[in-house]
Amino acid sequence: MKKIKLHKGKKYSICACGLSKLLPFCDNEHREYNKKHGTNYKSVKIIAGETVSIDINSSTWNIT
Ligand code: FES
Repeated sequence: MKKIKLHKGKKYSICACGLSKLLPFCDNEHREYNKKHGTNYKSVKIIAGETVSIDINSSTWNIT
């Protein structure tokens, strides 16, 4: 679980593959993985409607 602050109007790319070195954010590592393994991971895009702090988690993340 990660707590992140989202700023109103800003777009965020959240990692769905678990390979990013910048978790919870996507660093495009999924592109190389998809090429090698025939998978179709994509980041989850979030545009904050207001400035908020959220708790976020994914079953693919190996973080605590
Ligand atoms: S690096 Fe994981 S979705 Fe982009």
